[in-house]
Formats: sequence, C-alpha cells, structure tokens
Amino acid sequence: MTYPYPALTPEQKKELTDIAHRIVAPGKGILVADESTGSIAKRLQSIGTENIKENRRFHRPLLLTADDRVNPCTGLVILFHETLYQKAVGGRPSPQVIKSKGGVVGIRVDKGVVPLAGTNGETTTQGLDGLSESCAQYKKDGADFAKRCSLAIMENASVLVHYASICQQNGIAPIVEPEILPVGNHDLKGSHDVATTVPVAVYKALSDHLIYLEGTLLKPNMVTPGYACIQKFSNEDIAMATVPALHRTVPPAVPGFTFLSGGQSEEEASANLNAINKCLLLKPWALTFSYDRALQASALKAWALANSLACQGKYTPSGQSAVTASESLFISNHAY
Ligand code: 13P
Repeated sequence: MTYPYPALTPEQKKELTDIAHRIVAPGKGILVADESTGSIAKRLQSIGTENIKENRRFHRPLLLTADDRVNPCTGLVILFHETLYQKAVGGRPSPQVIKSKGGVVGIRVDKGVVPLAGTNGETTTQGLDGLSESCAQYKKDGADFAKRCSLAIMENASVLVHYASICQQNGIAPIVEPEILPVGNHDLKGSHDVATTVPVAVYKALSDHLIYLEGTLLKPNMVTPGYACIQKFSNEDIAMATVPALHRTVPPAVPGFTFLSGGQSEEEASANLNAINKCLLLKPWALTFSYDRALQASALKAWALANSLACQGKYTPSGQSAVTASESLFISNHAY
C-alpha cells in the first residue's frame, strides 16, 4: 500500500529494513554498553573501581574486544555518546573496532529518565530537542541503529513515535523500547497483563504516525514474574506467557525483538530466550537478545579479579571462571 504523503523513499526504507535484519540475523544479538555515567558509576563501584573517564574508556571497549569466538554472536553494540567518540585499547575509535568485525554500531539517544509529575512513580525520557541534528551526526560518525527506552504508557508511546520518526528520517533504524520494570510480587498473569497493555499503546501510536514498521525493532521485556513473587515458574512457562503476549500486540511487519534482560541472572536470561525460541507457537519475528546486565556481569567480575591480581603483580592471563552466571541481577530502583 502506498501512502499519500510518504515519509521515506523506497531507498531509505530498504536501508532501514536491511539494518533491522542484520541486527536480528540468525545467531546474532546485541551487547548493550550504553549505561549513563550515573549507572556505570554504580557498576564500577560494585567492583571497587573509580568512575573516571579512563576507567570507562578501558571497560566499555574491553567488551568489544573479547575473545574472537564471541564476535559472530554480538557484532551489534549499543554505545553511550561518550564511547562512540572514545578510542578503544589499541587506539582505534570504538565504531571502527565494531565495524572491522562486521558489526553494526548503535547509539543510545535519550538523555536519561525524569519523573512524570502526577503519576505513581512513572518516568519519561528526555532528549527529543535537537535529536534530528544528533541523529544526522551519529549516522556520519558510524551509527546505524539507535535505542531509547521509555516508561509511562501514553506519554512514552508518543515520545517513542517522535524518536522513531526522527531516526528513520536520518537513516537510523530505531529500536523501540517500552520498558516495564519487573518490580512487585505479581505472578506471570500480572506481568502478562502489563506486557499486553503497553505494546498496544505503542503500536497504535506508531501506526497512527505511519512509522515504517519493517525498519524498526522492538525491545520488550520477557514476561517474567515480579522480583518479589515467591511462586516459581519454569522457562517454558515464561516462554508460553511471552510469545502469546507478543502475538496479541505486535504486528508481524516488525522484523524482530531484541529482549532486554531486566535483572534476570545471566543463566535465566539465556534459558528463557532459549525456551522462547523453542516453543512451538507461531513466531513470525526473529527473537534475540539485547542484554546489558546479563552480558556484562561475569565479564565485569572477571575484569575486577584480573586487575586486583595485576596490581599485586600476580596476574597470569588465563580464562577466569564465570562466578556470577546464576546470580540475580535485579537492582531495585534501577535506572538505565
Ligand atoms: P538489561 O539487559 O540490563 O535489562 O538492559 C538492557 C537495556 O538496554 C535496557 O535499556
């Protein structure tokens, strides 16, 4: 169907669709390394490391230069503004390191969350002013996709629409992230209800504004119980709650979903994604990961341990075992 006032040319649409499909190609997923300076402060503090530019410069690109076996899996990396312009160890700019491995560079384009007055602790994200100019610049500087997360339903559906439209006009494939914090003691049914309400509002708004859905990706939560819920659910239960929630709300025109880990342990996040992909329900989209905590936790601890040994002259470069893989990564009042 052609629209009377097309916002994008066929060439722009093809570019966006190609980027979206490269991101969710079989076996691929996203490494999220875009924590704000405040969030990374807490993370570095957890391993007794000072939050200074040099440590951030060392830590973030370190994740990009992991063992070559990892390259085929996470060529897609979302960077924070600071990292896009920082050089990795070895002196090359971070986007160059990612691209030289066949990866795609993403950029976080929101300016952090702020409380929404008159709501029960809901928030919205800042940073629509000047977004078009920044997107044009980010595109020149190597970024091909972007991420922006948002909470309170209607306000954020509208913010996400403006963000998606501006990104697409600048040749950047937007990842739409209507984020739901898994805080509370609700069971799977409670999560499922929210997980269907939020995307309905988002896709209604995206469709009303003629956003080119084939050139977007959705970054949802898996449908997991609240962190204070005492009832246990299997990976299959989670898959059977997640896939139908998406069926009911997201058009098959969207090429894929890149799930966030949302405080699950590294093992849970992998096992749940596996169960989601194995479940026999119809899945018209690619289903992959875009994890921050569930990809970084063991790496961070291994790095801390290596450096603690190194500063005593006792470090021997050998594989360190992953000590944190089964620890919950939930943080109450977590802000991305
Ligand atoms: P987690 O995987 O730690 O939930 O973060 C993903 C993310 O990018 C949220 O914006």
